[in-house]
Formats: sequence, structure tokens, C-alpha cells
Amino acid sequence: MSSQTKLNIGLYGFGVVGASLYEVLTHTTTLNTRISKVCIRHAEKERSAPAALFTTDRNLILDDPDINVVVELTSDPVAAYYIVTTALRRGKAVVSANKKMIAEHLEELIDLQLQYKVPLLYEASCCASIPVIRNLEEYYDNDLLHSISGIVNGSTNYILTRIAEGRNTYEEALAAAQAAGFAEADPSLDVQGTDAANKMSIFLAHAYGVLAHPEKLLYTGIVNLHKADSIFAREKGYEIRLVAQARKLKDGKVAAFVLPQFVGNGNMLCEVKHEYNGVVIESSLADKQFFCGKGAGGFPTASAVLSDLSALRYEYRYEYKKLRYSDPSELSSDFYLRVCISFKSLIQVVHERFARVEEWSSSDTRCHITGIIHYSQLQESNWWKQPGVSLIVYPGGIVEHFLPVHIFEEEFVEV
Ligand code: HSE
Repeated sequence: MSSQTKLNIGLYGFGVVGASLYEVLTHTTTLNTRISKVCIRHAEKERSAPAALFTTDRNLILDDPDINVVVELTSDPVAAYYIVTTALRRGKAVVSANKKMIAEHLEELIDLQLQYKVPLLYEASCCASIPVIRNLEEYYDNDLLHSISGIVNGSTNYILTRIAEGRNTYEEALAAAQAAGFAEADPSLDVQGTDAANKMSIFLAHAYGVLAHPEKLLYTGIVNLHKADSIFAREKGYEIRLVAQARKLKDGKVAAFVLPQFVGNGNMLCEVKHEYNGVVIESSLADKQFFCGKGAGGFPTASAVLSDLSALRYEYRYEYKKLRYSDPSELSSDFYLRVCISFKSLIQVVHERFARVEEWSSSDTRCHITGIIHYSQLQESNWWKQPGVSLIVYPGGIVEHFLPVHIFEEEFVEV
């Protein structure tokens, strides 16, 4: 595909993002781009485009030899998998925003791109308007990239901000995020952290060459956070955000997880509010860089799709450099985290799980224990995810080297 090639697009999905893309493309005449067919699921819905454009037959686009680009913007990961893999096999370039489908099938999707020599671009799948994937792929060299930490889910950030501002209850804020078109069709994917884990899984491939199914990552969302946790945070000068984090450890392996985190005034992520996303990338030469922008919503997501379409015209494709041309890293389970565990009943939290307890407080409604805990303690069982328990990571929460002090052994030394 060259800059002269006309992009003849078959579009799947005409929801918030699909309709925004249609509007933008109809008003941008310079792109040499045309949407020739739109496949939708519900023919009866009223649409902001001529009826002749729409079909409910998904094969009409895939079978059309004149359509050279498939844009997949559905909310259904199963349908998206069929559409994207079939389109690649038929030699069509693909742009997709379906993070769940991409994260769960990335290895196969990379193979298909190589086998059929066609690109699949998905900048819109992570952080909508912020160009994170292409920067990780092109700009940051593997050895220099220390860490990525980010607020990558707009809905949960919107909910946490509205609650912290005292404007909404959790239920009201979630309903507002849904009404604004930020939330997933199944909003449990947002609030339970799955969406953020999907995005982290995609980042890992482009940042460190790690192919990790999202279910291999440690993650949780915001559903278990308690009102008392915000008060606890405020007393310490923090706010709470859902943060996706990956850090290269000294042994070359990568620590990666998605967990609620305390962020203080000095942290750039503290400034990220409402549906905005923010990503801080740390590398040895550039030090810290901060990307911030709208992470959800029709036009911000359409802007990333537009950028991918434009990139297709100069034959851009992901090379997966860290995966293919250098030694890819692997995930680590051998590190500690400094966390606060918040809970209402003592039987839910066994203090022996901590390598060190640093602070303990309790009120009528809630107890908070701060301490150092080995990552494998969290990986091996779900005690910290049960209803009534929440876990919040402290800033700079990864502790690589820690010598647990066995107090009891020391106290009872015989003399
Ligand atoms: N539901 C997602 C979010 C949409 O809230 O971030 C953008 O990926």
C-alpha cells in the first residue's frame, strides 16, 4: 500500500467510535479514503449515515476484493477475532480497537501478519488518543526502558475522580461513565481491572517483547475499594488511582501488574482526572516522560484509528522489534510490593502473609495494615480479592531486595 493507494474501507461496528470515525472521514477529504460498507448487528437502530451503506452480513466486506482495509470497531471480542483473522488471511490490512481480542490472541495475530504480509494496527486499543504503542515500538530501545506506569482505563478514573470530588456515589459515577460512552459494553471489564490488564498485556509486547496473556497478570479493579480507603489516603496526602505498571528488574525480568495505587502530589498521575489517561515512561537517558490525553470516548478513539489509517498509507507496520530482534524479557514473580491492605474483619487477613508489617490502624468500620508482601503471596491465592478486602500499592511500591526479619527467631534466642 503506498501513499497513492486509495483506502477502501469496510467498517465493522457503528457505535460511539464507529460513528465518530464516519463523521471525521466524511469531513476529511484529503485522506484519499472511503468507507464503502459498514457492518452492524442491529439493522433497526437509527444511524447517522445513509441506509445503503449498512449491512448485517459480515461476509459482504470480507468477500469484497475491492475493500483493501478492514476497520474493526465492534464491542464483541469473539466476532472481532473472526473478522480480524479472516481479513488478514485474505490479504486485507486491518485496524482494530478491540484490546480484549488483541491481548488474548496476540501471538497468533503476529504470526498471521508475518505469514500473509499484511499489517494489523491497533493504536486505538490502548489509551485512545495517546500514541503509546507506536512510541514503545519505535522510540524506546529495550535496554533503556525502565518502566511504564499508567492510568489506562478512562471509566475507572472517571468514577474515582467523581467520587473523590464528592459529586457521585460509585453507582452514579458508573452510570455516568456508561452514558458518556466511556465504559465497555460489559462494564465489569472496566471496574474489575480486566480492560486495564488487556492494555498492559499489549504494552508488554511492544515495550519488552513479553507475550503474556492478560490472565497471567496480577490485576484487580476498583470494586472493592472502600470509602474509608479514600479517607486513609487523604490523611496521608494521597489520592487513589487504578495503575497499570511494568518495571524491568535488575535481573532483566519484568514485574507487571494492574492494581489500585496511592498517588501523591509529586506524581504526574495525580493530575490525571476524569476520563483522561496518563502514562509515565522512564528510560535511562530521557528520564521521565509523561503522556496524557483522553483515554476513552468517540472522537479521541477515532483520532487513533485515523492515525493508523494514515500510517497504512506509508506502509507502516509493527515490527515487534523487542520480540523478534533481541532477547525478549520474561515476567517475574520474584519481588516484593509495599501495600496497604484494607479490610473489615481480622479473619480475612492473616498477618503472616506479610514479610514485614509496618503500620496498623483500625476504626469502627475498617482496618488498614501497611507492609511488605511477596508478589507470589498475591499470585497464589485470592484472599486479597475477596469482598470486603482491598489492596492499594504505595508509590514506588516495587521492592526488589528485601531481607525479611524473623522477629520471633531473634526474640527467642537462647542465652
Ligand atoms: N472502557 C474503556 C475505558 C474504553 O474506559 O478506558 C477505552 O479503551
